[in-house]
Amino acid sequence: MAELAEAVTHPLDPLTASEIERAAAIIRRQRPGMDRLRFPLLMLAEPAKQEVYAFRAGDPIPRRARATLLDRADGAAYEAVVSLEEDRLESWRALPGAQPPILMEEFAAVDALVKSDERWLAALARRGITDADLVQVDLWSVGDYPIQGVDSARRLVRAASYLRNRPSDNGYAKPIENVVAIVDLNENRVLQILDGDVVPLPPESGNYDAASVGELRTDLMPLDILQPEGPSFSIEGCLLSWQRWSMRVTMHPTDGLVLHQVAYDDGERRRPILYRAALSEMVVPYGDGTDAFHWRNAFDAGEYGMGRNMGSLSLGCDCLGEVRYLDAVVAGDDGEPMLCPNVVCIHEEDYSILWKHYDLSTGSSEVRRSRRLVVSSIATLGNYEYGFYWYFYQDGHIEFEIKLTGVVQTRALPPGGSDDYGTIVSTDLSAVNHQHIFNMRLDFDVDGTGNSVVEVDTVPLPPGEANPHRNAFAAQETLLETEQQAQRIIDPLKSRCWKIVNPTKLNRFGEPVAFKLLPEASSLMLAAADSRVAARARFAQNHLWVTPYDPNEMHAAGDYPNQSTGEDGLPRWTAQDRGISDTDVVLWHTFGVSHIPRPEDWPIMPVERIGFQLLPVGFFDRNPSLDVAPPQPACHPGGEPNE
Ligand code: NI
Repeated sequence: MAELAEAVTHPLDPLTASEIERAAAIIRRQRPGMDRLRFPLLMLAEPAKQEVYAFRAGDPIPRRARATLLDRADGAAYEAVVSLEEDRLESWRALPGAQPPILMEEFAAVDALVKSDERWLAALARRGITDADLVQVDLWSVGDYPIQGVDSARRLVRAASYLRNRPSDNGYAKPIENVVAIVDLNENRVLQILDGDVVPLPPESGNYDAASVGELRTDLMPLDILQPEGPSFSIEGCLLSWQRWSMRVTMHPTDGLVLHQVAYDDGERRRPILYRAALSEMVVPYGDGTDAFHWRNAFDAGEYGMGRNMGSLSLGCDCLGEVRYLDAVVAGDDGEPMLCPNVVCIHEEDYSILWKHYDLSTGSSEVRRSRRLVVSSIATLGNYEYGFYWYFYQDGHIEFEIKLTGVVQTRALPPGGSDDYGTIVSTDLSAVNHQHIFNMRLDFDVDGTGNSVVEVDTVPLPPGEANPHRNAFAAQETLLETEQQAQRIIDPLKSRCWKIVNPTKLNRFGEPVAFKLLPEASSLMLAAADSRVAARARFAQNHLWVTPYDPNEMHAAGDYPNQSTGEDGLPRWTAQDRGISDTDVVLWHTFGVSHIPRPEDWPIMPVERIGFQLLPVGFFDRNPSLDVAPPQPACHPGGEPNE
């Protein structure tokens, strides 16, 4: 760990390795009886926003850690806040009924437990599988589906299995159908094996590595991206600056990639836009009604930890060009720091044209190339990959994109069988219908903390004196005044967007400065509202929620969705129907994709994307990118005629 920068220069800097060690040591020292204590979460206790805004370089930085603990001795969960300065536990509270997220060590434990269980081995033998070492065991959170004869207060997971004839095989080609293990993670015991009808293993391989796919294309010419003078951005600790943009980039164990204090330098002024932006939760509900599948859903942030599953990125593969990486230090299950190298990739991309006009009278053309800054990270959650990409542009707009790829969930079909809940992607193999629904927590501070949210619909004007030709249309603005009123869905036919305005900061036209959240067309939860998965993912009922800032409200389905019944999070908070106008607002944007898998998604799914844009609306007085220099060397008209 010696190579890690240990200096803390800002209140939002993540815990260093030695701070993680000290925080865990303080907790252990002050809870001497608890020798089976595990650390599902241990991270910086983010200071209050006003403290962060008041901070000036060189000020003392009080450091606090927040931990979620699991006592294996009795399965109880606790939340602790540690003062590192004062070397003491600042608070300690029990979390009755909460199950902390699934630990890394529990994946290995479940694999070993299942593979040594006689009932499971017998179920495999019934299917002609005798070498348990070839079996891939996938762990699944149990959600809120009762299991007959099992107390739901236990710390539980389910496990499904796949056969790999060679260790490098794609196991999802050969699901071992209708064998499900129920495991108690605290007792380290397989409670039940559900052994249903035998379905033969599908016959085809699903391997996609270069050696498995036959002859490779040879007709791509080299494409080199060179920045001989280095990138145009700079990184100091977590602070990233590029063009007029600045932001702090960190990794959170639950939320993954987090941006803080996204701001734009406008002349001498550093103008804040977002205080904090990150994934708050996501859910992947499966749409298969069978016994072996209906319970499958994953809250990948709260149940598994998006940040704890971030991969190390590599040059020329995940990012191209003049790339810089950020490492993260996270706490392991034992409270010891672990270095995760290269989890954030930062680079620039040429992105076609920024603006252009060809003047018909003079025959001259003004055009500027668009350069964008990309901040990205990629998590692997079981079979699936989620790439999180923030893009910053020279015209002051921001895009967020999630790239979905990886291997789809599969089930084996009886020979020649069909599937009502999925798409046949290979012989006797179905990829199951499912959704990926994300919720992003966007804490806007547009030119300050006092903001309001306005819904904007573009609608025809009523016929009449003001609209004699019945062709006129205009933006119709509705101020969202309370939390209940601000539970909204998209309406692409009205070009609906939501403006975050600062009513006290006017632009030169006398209008409040604003950014708008421009959503994409996307689905919400398809499972019935009274289904168990929908009840736990109420955030997936609306595309927009707005709350007044509360530092304890961070995750749309609550801090502990694992085995939850779904009362916590946005529905509970917004039941207060607090006022949200001219205050410190937080927007919660839900969006997602519904996957009816295609044959082309097998054996590995080409990237699909979903996201949203944040665009300045009267935040600037005119196009802020006029000062981008023309392309160098100067462009020349036409180019060579066809040869
Ligand atoms: Ni999918």
